[in-house]
Amino acid sequence: MTTFPIERIRADFPILAEKIRGKDLVYLDNAASCQKPDIVIECMNHVYRHDYANIHRGVHTLSVRSTDKYEAAREKVRDFINAESSKEIIFVRGATEAINLIAQTYGKANIKAGDEILITAMEHHSNIVPWQMLCEQTEAVLRVAPMNQVGELLFDDFTQLLNEKTKLVAVVHMSNALGTINPVKDIIAAAHAKDIPVLLDGAQAIPHIPVDVQTLDCDFYVFSGHKLYGPSGIGVLYGKQAFLEAMPPYQGGGDMIRTVTFEKSTYAALPHKFEAGTPAIAEVIGLGAAIGYLNGIGMADIAAYEAELLTYATEQAKQIDGLKIIGEAKDKGAILSFTLGKIHPHDIGTMLDSLGIAIRAGHHCAMPVMEFYGVPATARASFAMYNTKQEIDVLMEGIKSLIKVFG
Ligand code: ALA
Repeated sequence: MTTFPIERIRADFPILAEKIRGKDLVYLDNAASCQKPDIVIECMNHVYRHDYANIHRGVHTLSVRSTDKYEAAREKVRDFINAESSKEIIFVRGATEAINLIAQTYGKANIKAGDEILITAMEHHSNIVPWQMLCEQTEAVLRVAPMNQVGELLFDDFTQLLNEKTKLVAVVHMSNALGTINPVKDIIAAAHAKDIPVLLDGAQAIPHIPVDVQTLDCDFYVFSGHKLYGPSGIGVLYGKQAFLEAMPPYQGGGDMIRTVTFEKSTYAALPHKFEAGTPAIAEVIGLGAAIGYLNGIGMADIAAYEAELLTYATEQAKQIDGLKIIGEAKDKGAILSFTLGKIHPHDIGTMLDSLGIAIRAGHHCAMPVMEFYGVPATARASFAMYNTKQEIDVLMEGIKSLIKVFG
């Protein structure tokens, strides 16, 4: 890697200059949501100031401009994850909505009483609850592949759970609570050997590692824009065209129809079949800008830089007496979850905030993971490409000082 342009990147994110309680902001809550570069903020301002109108509907200039920018963003997403066709890119509100969409369309059409859906023990709520809801509706069964103490999937146990009743595998690409990066290529190969489709929840992986859906050969891939340096309220469902063609629509309304009479409606072609109503127009265009920005830096370089950050943070954390890292998988993204003995993670979060350091404290929308480790919550520092080793030093000093206060 040529030298990572960290100073230039930091300068692109105006919020990083913010003072919090009189201190320089150290923003380490990127797994919850990351900050936005100027180019995204200005792109959305520009849309509202110069281009905004509803899309796919008008013949007037502004509608054409908005439509062109919206569809250009779809093409940027397609290229970013190397989907075969932009018909396979569906805009939704976020990864959560994408999973609910698959459960309620693909799931309802294909999963029946006694069938099984296989997830893992490290899923967050978005990849658990929609399946539980589907199981309640269909009397299907949710199976959970176990993990070991360092937070790695037990792959043999996973493959043993694949059987003729398994109708879908839904697995997190990178865990939000542990940082584990799952062996998704092997997971997909094992499932496909039994003709079982695979959904990858890429909400955490997508900002950290290059993703190529054709190389992975996943059937569905979902992610949110706000974790990819883009706006909130927008996300992506990738699905192989054959699956999406066969699936019934999710929501009915404008833009997803071909014809409507009071007797019957017919549906629009992909991708519009799944995009009912006026979408998040400026957000989609803003997501396209975020992707353009990331392409300018390069996902491989981002992954290499963040790996250095994680190694450094882990080494420093291990030198602190009483700090226990939760999640030490060999293949891990830039997330450091930890506990400090009896000090409650909420107290850790509050104390660190007084020093200008933003982390997340809680169950991270992954209560079963907390149960597995026998803790109510963890403190989690999650890194982005704009973080630095100096910020990690500030975090470690903060942790040491709060250990002194709490004894
Ligand atoms: N799932 C998000 C997180 O990990 C909100 O914080």
